[in-house]
Amino acid sequence: MSTFEIEHQIYEGKAKKIFATNDDFKVVMEFKNDLTAFNALKKGQFEGKGELNCEISTLIFKEIAKHKISLHWIETFEKNKMLVQKTEIIPLEVVVRNRIAGSLAKKFKMPEGEVLKLALLEFYYKNDELQDPFVSDDQIIAFGWSTAADLAIVKKITLQINEILKDIFKKCGLSLVDFKIEFGKLPSGEIILADEISPDSMRLWDSVTNEKMDKDRFRFDLGDVKTGYQTILNKLKEVLS
Ligand code: TMP
Ligand code: ASP
Repeated sequence: MSTFEIEHQIYEGKAKKIFATNDDFKVVMEFKNDLTAFNALKKGQFEGKGELNCEISTLIFKEIAKHKISLHWIETFEKNKMLVQKTEIIPLEVVVRNRIAGSLAKKFKMPEGEVLKLALLEFYYKNDELQDPFVSDDQIIAFGWSTAADLAIVKKITLQINEILKDIFKKCGLSLVDFKIEFGKLPSGEIILADEISPDSMRLWDSVTNEKMDKDRFRFDLGDVKTGYQTILNKLKEVLS
């Protein structure tokens, strides 16, 4: 355990708060119990949600680190708090889809569930006011949100993470339908995995029954949200111990 002091709050988002520390290169990420959907049009919360997402993210980050992928996570020092490297976040939501669901199903009027012919990587511009619009690679480079070289690294790491996650969740009896990740850039120029990987930002279906275990339970009132998240955590613990 490293020693550090938590200082003032730098930022509060929909599901997390960020605090400065006495180390200029490290910040604390606190997971809140709040839950939002559809660009915060729908709001909710449940007791223990921050802790569940923090523990799920921690387990996943540890697995990803084993594959020599650089990430912002340093340590989880409280049930809902991580110490992470401070990075400049690349303003992109990097989405991978293995099966048709969510906004893709809606956009093309296709039924959910079909397995895609390739892992479909998409970028969305992180901007609440614009409701995170889809952006092309060339738009990202033209607007200066990232460079061609950095984008190539982001894609490579993202597809690697997809393979790691698919494998972990297959062992859990869950199908990884899609997920969203974010990246940051260190002062050294290194691109690292940032944010969180939790049921807020993934779609996970029971491999046998197709029951949805993730935030879609909240988005569409499909069942007890906490039970879904707790089931994911329990399965991860069984598989990763
Ligand atoms: P979508 O089908 O709504 O585009 O979402 C694809 C995946 O990305 C899904 O697992 C949820 C995740 N996601 C986020 O984590 N944050 C977001 O703001 C959005 C739109 C999607
Ligand atoms: N994360 C977004 C929100 O909080 C969208 C979503 O997950 O549905 O509004």
